[in-house]
Amino acid sequence: MNLIQVNPDACNRDGVCVAECPMKILVLKDRRSVPEPVRGAQNLCINCGHCVAVCPTGALSHRSMSPDQCPPVRKEWLLTPEQAEHFLRSRRSIRNYRKDPVDRQTLTRLIQTAAYAPSGHNLQPVRWHVVYETEQLRRLTGMVVDWMRYMLREQPEFARKMHMDMVVAGWELGMDVICHGAPHLIVAHASAKDLTAQSSCTIALAYLELAALPLGLGACWAGFFHAAAAFWPPLQKALGLPEGHTCMGAMMVGYSKYTYHRLPLRKTPKITWK
Ligand SMILES: Cc1cc2nc3c(=O)[nH]c(=O)nc-3n(C[C@H](O)[C@H](O)[C@H](O)COP(=O)(O)O)c2cc1C
Repeated sequence: MNLIQVNPDACNRDGVCVAECPMKILVLKDRRSVPEPVRGAQNLCINCGHCVAVCPTGALSHRSMSPDQCPPVRKEWLLTPEQAEHFLRSRRSIRNYRKDPVDRQTLTRLIQTAAYAPSGHNLQPVRWHVVYETEQLRRLTGMVVDWMRYMLREQPEFARKMHMDMVVAGWELGMDVICHGAPHLIVAHASAKDLTAQSSCTIALAYLELAALPLGLGACWAGFFHAAAAFWPPLQKALGLPEGHTCMGAMMVGYSKYTYHRLPLRKTPKITWK
């Protein structure tokens, strides 16, 4: 199948697809021709879909996506600067969850939105592992505590600096300050060999945390869980990620018990200009 197909009747020869292609693999030979790929384009194309998305007339079809498959941008749904600022500022890390589970369909929708996060070279290396059963999450959280106990023995100075002594003491009193009693945990993982994977996973999780909000969900980065999953073999084994894959971040997810009513303040950004 050709890399791109252009409907000559619909193409207005404006050259926008040529200009916007990040790999510069499309050319418009003259005002009468339609865009075509350069030699070797098949191997260079990163399947980002920009050529399809930017065409104002829907004339261009890419072998991996046609205009019909790509929904139009709903201009009336785009946020105003005030709405976007309010939305981003109103996201909070949620640390008190209701016990009721989130249905799998909603979690799938959440992950599908997070999958629109940018990734290096559009490689989309992020894979998702949902610890859905709350009991299983408690068991895995217990393993994070085991790792902390180990760290307090082997590297006490570092462990105390990370407040692991307090976290373990809390756990022994029935307090979970690792996953905060969340019903579910979503792990982003990828091949450890992929150099862009850590950034891609972090950005995808940031998308996921934001996308949780309009679905009525609360989320919070699970930093302790992530650290333990990177270093503690028993947790790695129990998590059961594919061979060669590493946990590159984890997010607690559930329904928030409480509602926030104000936007807290943050440090004023320190900016340098040249
Ligand atoms: C990489 C990263 C790891 C984090 N790990 C934890 C964590 O393990 N437990 C927790 O309660 N919050 C964790 N957080 C949430 C931060 O504490 C939180 O973002 C910060 O206090 C600001 O609050 P806000 O997110 O409500 O604006 C983490 C955040 C990030 C970005």
